[in-house]
Amino acid sequence: MSEPTEGIGDMSIKDEEKQEAGDEDDVVNPWEVATHSATGVDYDKLIKRFGSTKIDDALIQRIEKVTGKPVHHLLRRGKFFSQRDMHMILDMYEQKKPFYLYTGRGPSSDAMHMGHLIPFIFTKWLQDTFDVPLVIQLTDDEKFLWKDLTLEQANHMAIENTKDIIACGFDIEKTFIFSDLNFISNSSAFYRNMCRVQKLVTYNQVKGIFGFGDSDCIGKISFPAIQASPSFSSSFPEIFNGRPDIPCLIPCAIDQDPYFRMTRDVAPRMNYLKPALIHSTFFPALQGAQTKMSASDPNSSIFVTDSDKQIKDKINKFAFSGGGATVEEHKEKGGNCDVDVSYQYLTFFMEDDERLEEIRKTYTSGELLTGFLKKELIEILQKLVGEHRQKRATITDDVVRQFMTPRKLKFDYPPPTPPSEKKKKKKQKSAKAV
Ligand code: TRP
Repeated sequence: MSEPTEGIGDMSIKDEEKQEAGDEDDVVNPWEVATHSATGVDYDKLIKRFGSTKIDDALIQRIEKVTGKPVHHLLRRGKFFSQRDMHMILDMYEQKKPFYLYTGRGPSSDAMHMGHLIPFIFTKWLQDTFDVPLVIQLTDDEKFLWKDLTLEQANHMAIENTKDIIACGFDIEKTFIFSDLNFISNSSAFYRNMCRVQKLVTYNQVKGIFGFGDSDCIGKISFPAIQASPSFSSSFPEIFNGRPDIPCLIPCAIDQDPYFRMTRDVAPRMNYLKPALIHSTFFPALQGAQTKMSASDPNSSIFVTDSDKQIKDKINKFAFSGGGATVEEHKEKGGNCDVDVSYQYLTFFMEDDERLEEIRKTYTSGELLTGFLKKELIEILQKLVGEHRQKRATITDDVVRQFMTPRKLKFDYPPPTPPSEKKKKKKQKSAKAV
């Protein structure tokens, strides 16, 4: 029997969304995230629509058990909330078998904002905790195709963003970062996997998954094969010694899931493993959870390049408040943490659970005023951004070059079984079975 597909039918995104939830529906795809709800996207509904699995307490407990340490607060607090095949990855880890991490970024601006850093902060935790290789794809080609950018501009942003990514603390002996424009033309193995994917996905299918239309350029239509290919270890023979069978785990924001639904659909037909996934929610804009932050609106977010004063001013001026309109009203009715952006940001960045809970209680009861919440957040962000600024300043062109050089990392892999041996093994197996 063939495996069930994961929503890679012929229905377009737009049709699907209309059909599933009527007009007031959330729109979530790689290019647009929009909702009318002040509390943000309905993530439970999204899990159903995408066919992924909610991260439950049992999974969190299992991660703590196999790693012997508490999970990251982003996982504990449900910021990473959905997954595919995480149990398979934990099985591997328990059996001391290898796996690797793959994540990425579409470089559309020179400066990254705090929302962009979330997946990288979490990925660093995964790398430290599981001690595994990591590949990071910078899709400068994607941004060239989608935005009004030249190849040179997109490539420049990829290199600038690489510095911010390195500043998150990745281990140079365990991490390969690549720009599509620089790397793919030098990698026969990567290009071969792209071709394999391209042959297995029809125009009808990408129309269904991504909503492409007749007037989209053909670069967009074939791009998903480029984002799919790092999910296969055979795309990186330098790292994996030619092994095609090392499982992959992809931490990403849930809007990237369409790419990987497609990847998981084609993988078995390429004789490859399906990549596992762990999905995050979106980081809210300062103005509220209705939208994801936009790099093109400087007031919608805190950038890693913002000065202490900019951070303070932006939060005081723009962070949407869930508090009462007047002090009296606030004291009487209390604040609403579900829509209060400063509180929401604290759930991303304040590590101390007890302190956060204390703030939640006293803000909800009306005892604590919005100003206090903002002050707390400003301090945390000034510290985080300040540390980032310092780290970034130490990253030389040479360090960037080292991270971006295709090379063996500190992990060893026995060579792959040659095809003739595989056949023999299969024969032996079936002989035994009979
Ligand atoms: N398309 C992603 C973006 O625009 C970049 C990306 C490429 C990515 N590969 C990825 C993100 C893997 C997460 C995981 O940001």
